[in-house]
Amino acid sequence: MPDNEWDPDDYDEGHGFVAEYGKDVVRLLDPQPGKRILDVGCGTGTLTATIADSGADVVGIDAAASMVEQARERYPGLSFEVADARKYDPSEFDAVFSNAALHWIPSDDHDAALSMVASALADEGRFVAEFGGRGNVSQVETAVRTELSERGYDTDHSWYFPSIGEYAPRLESHGLEVTSAWLFDRPTELDGGEAGLREWIGMFGDELFAPVSETDREAILAAVEERLRPALFDPETGTWTVDYRRLRFVARRQ
Ligand code: BEZ
Repeated sequence: MPDNEWDPDDYDEGHGFVAEYGKDVVRLLDPQPGKRILDVGCGTGTLTATIADSGADVVGIDAAASMVEQARERYPGLSFEVADARKYDPSEFDAVFSNAALHWIPSDDHDAALSMVASALADEGRFVAEFGGRGNVSQVETAVRTELSERGYDTDHSWYFPSIGEYAPRLESHGLEVTSAWLFDRPTELDGGEAGLREWIGMFGDELFAPVSETDREAILAAVEERLRPALFDPETGTWTVDYRRLRFVARRQ
């Protein structure tokens, strides 16, 4: 799994839209009192707590210790574990939920995570999730990669943004029957005004910059902003809007 550096305070304060949009996915999950639910990639626990508010019995897991530490501080009554979804040994759950997390698990490793989900689910249990779909943040990723390569940097970092046609058979190969799936554009306005794009890249894309010197980093960020300004910056509102695309689905363990 890519080793992004996570700053939990910045994640909550500057990127609250992640959990805000995720509420739609919780509505699709429709958690019920007493149901056992596993939240994969729970981050700082905002949606885990929303699920728990329904009376469900929820466990949140996340690979980033800093995020889990923050989740435990914010919600001491809930259960959180530091765990990599590819290696987790789950107990039995009625549903598995995940928002904005699965794209961090590279395609080559993804079957290990899906196998964990399948083994976690009781018969007829549901897997309800959303993450970046085919074409997600492609303008931003292309601009960053272009500026990196123009300065001689190579990066093997990659997120996984599949289409429905690619992902549904993958789910089915793990005995997870897809009952609904959507791929849709969700242009996402960033917080932070003029600095919003570089803050977003700092939060989510630091791995792309791993080999880059501080001086080059500044030059690359400025060049990326200039490249993307005509398409993604609105001078009237002073905000950046990133080209998010979401893959959302419901699958049922057969
Ligand atoms: C997302 O689609 O949620 C996302 C993708 C890559 C980096 C950060 C966020």
